[in-house]
Amino acid sequence: MVGPRRDGRPTALPDVLQCLRAISHRGAEQAFTAAMSPRDGQPFVQAGFELHERLHLLSLRLDGRGRATPGRRTFRGRPWHLRAVLDIDRQAFDPFWRFDARTLKEAREATPVSRYRVARLDDRANGPLVGYAVTGRAGPRGYLQRLAIEPAAAGRGFGTLLIDDALLWLSARGVHTVMVNTQETNVRALDLYRRIGFVSEPEGLVVLRWTAA
Ligand SMILES: CC(C)(COP(=O)(O)OP(=O)(O)OC[C@H]1O[C@@H](n2cnc3c(N)ncnc32)[C@H](O)[C@@H]1OP(=O)(O)O)[C@@H](O)C(=O)NCCC(=O)NCCS
Repeated sequence: MVGPRRDGRPTALPDVLQCLRAISHRGAEQAFTAAMSPRDGQPFVQAGFELHERLHLLSLRLDGRGRATPGRRTFRGRPWHLRAVLDIDRQAFDPFWRFDARTLKEAREATPVSRYRVARLDDRANGPLVGYAVTGRAGPRGYLQRLAIEPAAAGRGFGTLLIDDALLWLSARGVHTVMVNTQETNVRALDLYRRIGFVSEPEGLVVLRWTAA
């Protein structure tokens, strides 16, 4: 994985070339960028990266609203849920997007504050886990970082339950805009986000791929 500079300065072509030299030297044959705007992707394209996948970027103005799902609740994600959570993630995402313990941790630490919740098949505190969500907050902005429901439990409102929980949490902390991105082909997630009120930003995001010559 190759990302933009971490010091906040714009990533330029020499940065990308230096990075590619370093990873080639260590034997990498392929590299992918994180999801980024097409503009941020320009130096990567100049360095030989090609389009791997387009993502929709959606936003929601919260305006203080956030709703609870009546009669249903989520639970705090705990360290001992890790195995079940990663198993749900494995079933919900194809290998490229799948999380492992490290990338789940990175998602939880991507923003200064985050919330990690799980959904259970029933409301018993020891009922089996069927889904989880990671939500982040950075100042007035909220991010739905991850949402996954076990396929066998899909279509029963668990996705909506976890999003409602996230929006309520963000709303109570003064967040006014919530962002989420998803693959252009993920019709189910897009339908769900749009039903909740998210709208697509004019410019989406791209993931770029580099292959060694
Ligand atoms: C996308 C995803 C999160 C949706 O989760 P879900 O639990 O199926 O979502 P919900 O059940 O809340 O809503 C989905 C549909 O079920 C319907 N539904 C909601 N509650 C329901 C209930 N109690 N009984 C039956 N259907 C219900 C909704 O109306 C909705 O219908 P729609 O297809 O017209 O939108 C889930 O399919 C998933 O994990 N997909 C793979 C990973 C992924 O795409 N993650 C998010 C993008 S990064």
